[in-house]
Amino acid sequence: MSGVTTDMAAYWDRAGRVWVEQQALLDRLYQPIAKAVVDRADLRAGEAVLDVGCGAGATTFEAAWRVGPEGRAVGADISGALLELARRRAGEQALEGVEFVHADAQTHAFGQDFDAIVSRFGVMFFPDPVAAFANLRRALKPGGRLAFACWRGPEDNAIAQVPLEAAAPFLPEVPKFERNAPGRFGFADPERVLSILAEAGWRDITIEALDDPTPVSFEELLTMSLRVGPLNPILSNADETLRARVREAVTAALSPYVKDGVAQMNSACWLVTAR
Ligand SMILES: C[S@@+](CC[C@H](N)C(=O)[O-])C[C@H]1O[C@@H](n2cnc3c(N)ncnc32)[C@H](O)[C@@H]1O
Repeated sequence: MSGVTTDMAAYWDRAGRVWVEQQALLDRLYQPIAKAVVDRADLRAGEAVLDVGCGAGATTFEAAWRVGPEGRAVGADISGALLELARRRAGEQALEGVEFVHADAQTHAFGQDFDAIVSRFGVMFFPDPVAAFANLRRALKPGGRLAFACWRGPEDNAIAQVPLEAAAPFLPEVPKFERNAPGRFGFADPERVLSILAEAGWRDITIEALDDPTPVSFEELLTMSLRVGPLNPILSNADETLRARVREAVTAALSPYVKDGVAQMNSACWLVTAR
C-alpha cells in the first residue's frame, strides 16, 4: 500500500482491531444501513462495484449478492486486520467475484472500470476529502454511481454523546467530536458534504436523512459506549478505579434509554448519492 497518511493508518490500525473484535455486533447493528446504501446504488447483475473503507466486508458482501457471480465486488481498506477478517469471511461464504485490496482510497489508482462505488461509514476519514472524492470519481466508468452512508451529528446520535458526557467529569481531557475534520462526524454537516462532492466533480448530489433504530441489549449498548467509541483508548490506558467509575457513570446515563432490557439506539445518518 502506498500514499497512506501515517496518522490515519495508525489510527485505523488500533481502531480496526476493535472493529474486528466487535464485528458481529457492529454488523447486526448496521446491517440495515448496508442494505440502504446498496439499494440506493441500484446495482444490477454483472456490474462491478467498489466498497470504500470496507472494514470486515459487510457492505461488500451485500453488494456481491446484488451483482451476482457474473459481477465483481471489490472492498478497499487501510486496515490490514479488518481486511484479513473480510477475506476469511468471503472464503467462509464461498462468495464468487469478491476481492479485497489493501489501499488508501484517497490516492490509490483503482482503474476506471467500476459501475458504482458504495460505502458504509468509510469515507469520512480522508485528510484531503476533495482529492479523495476526485480520485474515487476516476475509478468509475462514465455515468457511474456513488452511494454512501455517513453519520449525522453527535447531538442526533445519543450513543456517541451520552457516554462521553457521563465520563467527562472523571477524565483529564475529554475527546472532542470534530465536524470539519477527518473523523466519525466529519461529514455531519450536509453543506460540507455537498461542497466537497461538487468540488471533486460529482453531479446530481442528493443527501437525505436515514434513521435506523435497530434494538440492542443493555450489555451491547455498554460495549458500544465503552469499547467501540472514543472512550476505548482512554480506558485502555486507565487504572481499574477510573475504569469502574466511568463504567458506573455511563451505565447510569444510559439507563433511561433502555426499556425491558432493550435499547432503541437510533443510528442517525445521511444517505448520500451522486453521479
Ligand atoms: C467506521 S469503519 C467502517 C467499516 C465498514 N465499512 C463497516 O461499515 O463495517 C471505517 C473504515 O474506513 C477505513 N478507512 C479509513 N480511511 C481510509 C482510507 N483512506 N482508505 C481506505 N480505507 C479507509 C478504516 O480502516 C475502517 O475500516
